[in-house]
Amino acid sequence: MKKNQFNTKFGVVAATVGSAVGLGNIWRFPYEAGAHGGGAFLIVYLLFVLILGIPVICAEFLIGHSSGADVYTAFTKLNGGRLWRLVGRMGLAAALLILGFYSVVAGWTVEYIYQSVISFGGATTADELHAQFGAFSSDAVKPLWWILAFLAANYVILIRGVGKGIERMSNILMPLLFVILLVFVINSLMLPKAAEGLEFLFKPDFSAITPSVVLGALGQAFFSLSLGLGCLITYASYFRADTPLVKTATISALLDMLVAIMAGVIIFPAVFTYGQEPSAGPQLVFEVLPSIFLNMPGGIVWATLFFILLFVASLTSTLSMFEILIAYMERSLSMSRLKAVSLTLMVVIVLSTLCSLSFGKLDGIRVFGLNLFSLSDYLSSNILLPVGGILISIFAGWIVERHTVRLELLGSAPSTLLRISVRIIIFNLRYLAPIGIGLIFIFGL
Ligand code: PHE
Repeated sequence: MKKNQFNTKFGVVAATVGSAVGLGNIWRFPYEAGAHGGGAFLIVYLLFVLILGIPVICAEFLIGHSSGADVYTAFTKLNGGRLWRLVGRMGLAAALLILGFYSVVAGWTVEYIYQSVISFGGATTADELHAQFGAFSSDAVKPLWWILAFLAANYVILIRGVGKGIERMSNILMPLLFVILLVFVINSLMLPKAAEGLEFLFKPDFSAITPSVVLGALGQAFFSLSLGLGCLITYASYFRADTPLVKTATISALLDMLVAIMAGVIIFPAVFTYGQEPSAGPQLVFEVLPSIFLNMPGGIVWATLFFILLFVASLTSTLSMFEILIAYMERSLSMSRLKAVSLTLMVVIVLSTLCSLSFGKLDGIRVFGLNLFSLSDYLSSNILLPVGGILISIFAGWIVERHTVRLELLGSAPSTLLRISVRIIIFNLRYLAPIGIGLIFIFGL
């Protein structure tokens, strides 16, 4: 077994889905949808996943797979001029920014594993759960311990390398997450105000769609698919020669979408049933889920299991973000893996500490009215990832040799369906993605 290669086809999909499925689907999607009109946001988001997401995933895959390189050198290896290294640099910066705020939320999941075990300390009403979350997240010390615990778990897996560490964990835990989500979906569908919740999620109110909501939905699509920062370039460089890129891209995107919808179906019926606010913001999921669990038979057990799996889903996502930085340091800076992992981890500890404190002591530091946590999120999701997406599409559509693109996407014995899909994908990469994302970007800002 080679250390730096995914070993099975299932492992490739599981690791890619592992990167995609995470807090983005279960924590970020419901609160973004909740704050931006529910159904309208959902539709725009779904369209972006299908029309722009899948082609850009294919672009990242083919760049990583054919160059076999990290984000920094992949572009120059495929005949890009030195300027293309900027895209690599941007990806590295985005990875650090995301890791900073993402680790904070992942730390919250650890706290909520503990809270589940102690039955949320006796809190039952929406107000009590709200107060409880507020007190915890603004505390100067407690969240930091959980961030450290979460990052320590990353460390242990990362030093073992891709195949053994990341792939093995994804193989077991991602399928388990699906099963447990399904249980919660069924439970939520039986809640008294399920219909109201589903209506909020699925019935689009098109008057809610403004350019900034569209940009938000685009950012959500990219964030959720781990797209635009070279994460999938890095992963694809570990794929085996015969990995089917278009199929893997499509399956991963659809599964990722499915998990986001399932999360919505779990959260919104509960929001209405237990009198909570859909637009509560980043704390939404952490305040709504306990209400669900407290009213379920065997709730404590389910709650514990759920937060453990959410923790794991976050882990498989942060591992992929770390891998962007580590692959770069290992390959382009010739550092040892151990040194690369340790160094990156230290930077992330500092960034996530700042993000965590921005809910309490550092709340006063604001840029454009956003605290450090929300600023990192906005900058990465709504700016760096879409810009990265434009550049990656242009690169795959116009700079990489046509022959290479077709070879990578078509494989050795393409079916007719695959040939047609690849045509559409190439068209989207050359025209639709750069122009479309560009326009959304300009109007959205
Ligand atoms: N897609 C991950 C999620 O939904 C987050 C992520 C973003 C992972 C960017 C890697 C790169 O949680």
